[in-house]
Amino acid sequence: MVHAQLHCIFPECDARYTVDSDANECKECKGLLDVRYTGIDASTVKELAQLRRMNNANVQDRSGVWRFRHLLPFYLEHSRKEQNLVSLDGMEGNTWPIHVTRAAEYAGVPSENVWFQFEGNNPTGSFKDNGMAAAFTHAKMLGRTYVACASTGNTSASVAAFAANELNQMRAAVFIGDGKIARGKLAKTLAYDPTVLQIEGDFDDAMARVLEVSSNEGIYLMNSVNPFRLEGQKTIMHRVWEGLDWNVPDWVVVPGGNLGNCSAFGKAWHELYELGLTQKMPRIAVINAQGANMFYQLVQQGACWNGGKVNREHYRQAFTHAPKAHTRASAIEINRPVNFYKALRMLEWTNGVVREATDAEMLEAQAVVTRNGYGCEPASAATLAGIKKLREEGLIKKTDRVVGIFTGHLLNDAEALIEYHTSEQKNLFSNQPVRVQNSLDRIVQALR
Ligand code: F0G
Repeated sequence: MVHAQLHCIFPECDARYTVDSDANECKECKGLLDVRYTGIDASTVKELAQLRRMNNANVQDRSGVWRFRHLLPFYLEHSRKEQNLVSLDGMEGNTWPIHVTRAAEYAGVPSENVWFQFEGNNPTGSFKDNGMAAAFTHAKMLGRTYVACASTGNTSASVAAFAANELNQMRAAVFIGDGKIARGKLAKTLAYDPTVLQIEGDFDDAMARVLEVSSNEGIYLMNSVNPFRLEGQKTIMHRVWEGLDWNVPDWVVVPGGNLGNCSAFGKAWHELYELGLTQKMPRIAVINAQGANMFYQLVQQGACWNGGKVNREHYRQAFTHAPKAHTRASAIEINRPVNFYKALRMLEWTNGVVREATDAEMLEAQAVVTRNGYGCEPASAATLAGIKKLREEGLIKKTDRVVGIFTGHLLNDAEALIEYHTSEQKNLFSNQPVRVQNSLDRIVQALR
């Protein structure tokens, strides 16, 4: 029998709760919570996923999240079981790892050894849809009808779209920082029709407020501090594993903001390893923006999980005094990451590393991806900038198999692209429009 429970992540506490709880922190020690399982049948994991992949007639099997539902079976605790699985009609999570030659060349890794997965191809333009499918399923299990989140623009769009798709059954409120949101993201967020609160302050301020409001007002919280969100995001790694013919890469590289995604990735690989389905762990590299690099700095200064023996008061102080984040990669403009401890644990599990990328490095890497016919937003391009950096350092070897996750869609931040390509100070890959008089001769001349 499969069984799911919430556990405090700190081994010294190890408090446990039923999955009927919407608590986002341990009542005993205020630690983060994990969903943990017993009784998963490892022998059928790959076959079930493969079989479902071929079953195009079933919405849940078509979903790249629910195809792997046997690896996130918290919903089995509920009597209505699979009827309750929330999906944007199977469209979320339909991504897989592919080769991107120019990106590989730019990073200095042979193209056959490096794959990229474009999570921006999810229905609302970012990886968040993977997490929302799972978190909305949990909210529905609990009979909750009002949900909220703080966001730099992608989470808010995803929450709002999933709520809208429940028609009149679900209401959503989203908290965004004042002026801290790319226009494409503001546009999609408004369009899906949630209540939008623009808070005076940045994402970290909005996050602090939504945490307060959700617990005081009994509104279900959809940020990645919600452990069920991360269950959905684990499937990003399940699809990498499947796409590499059930092999484990040497490296997985991902941008870091609130540190939910990298934590979910660590949990996914750790669980597969514990189930005996894989024989090694990949190393996970998290790339911060230089202007939002608290995680990078703290790890540089020696922060580590140490089996859960961490001086939490020390880090509480550090985050209280964190400088305001400032980067062009607005998605990851975050300096008080809520999943800090899960991310430290992930670094220990995966022998992971943290690096930082400047805005210029991210924008240049973004331009390389588009010059290969694909696209991602600036924060996502931290992934490619990070692979390049780790290759230059020699940490990633030429023969290593590397997977980079691009987290958001190219058009989430159209202003960044236009600035890059048309700024007076010419960038390496800029593509300025050629102004031509409306005359056949001049046009033909310009084409030669
Ligand atoms: N990439 C993109 C495109 C994002 O939107 C985010 C986070 C991240 C990376 C960072 O992921 O928080 O799991 O470390 N965006 C959140 C939002 C904060 O509100 O849309 P993380």
